[in-house]
Amino acid sequence: LPLLAAALAFGYLLGSIPFGLVLTRSAGLGDIRAIGSGNIGATNVLRTGNRKLAAATLLLDGLKGTAAVLVAAWFGPAAALAAGLGAFLGHLFPVWLGFKGGKGVATFLGVLLAIHWPAFLIFAAIWIAMAFAFRYSSLAALVASAATPVVLFFMGLGWPTVLVFAAMTALSVAKHHENIARLLAGTESRIGAKSAKPP
Ligand code: G3P
Repeated sequence: LPLLAAALAFGYLLGSIPFGLVLTRSAGLGDIRAIGSGNIGATNVLRTGNRKLAAATLLLDGLKGTAAVLVAAWFGPAAALAAGLGAFLGHLFPVWLGFKGGKGVATFLGVLLAIHWPAFLIFAAIWIAMAFAFRYSSLAALVASAATPVVLFFMGLGWPTVLVFAAMTALSVAKHHENIARLLAGTESRIGAKSAKPP
């Protein structure tokens, strides 16, 4: 148990680095939380119009999850899973930002890559198909995240893995409550639309 707690804490520390905020601030774009949806993730960084910075945010927010799992995997699969969960929680609830973090999509994906890469490919395929069809980043993420625990179950992963991903999906869906309200109201911003003010 101390091992799992240490893995969780290690993952949390890595996951709590808000790359979207750090990158946009160092690029002189101001506080990303005052732009678009107010979120610190890659989708909102894209609303600044800087595609490279958005791609870097996606990559780094993802890789911190991948790295947490791969490092902790040295101590066994349970530690790997705990570190992945920790990284996800760190991104959603970073102590540095008064526990107000992101929605966890990139980090979820990065953790998934390290835990079971075929499921990562399925997530990516669903996200791309949904984004291509509807052009809503949030909707694509919600559908791909919801599918993941089911995919992991049918791919024969153990209950701890399935349950951890189900919990991460539930938290990410909860963090998307404003997006869900906007999707239902038909006011969600489409991928590629720039925005200066929070809607
Ligand atoms: O994947 C993050 C995305 O689902 C929502 O981002 O900025 O549109 O709230 P945002």
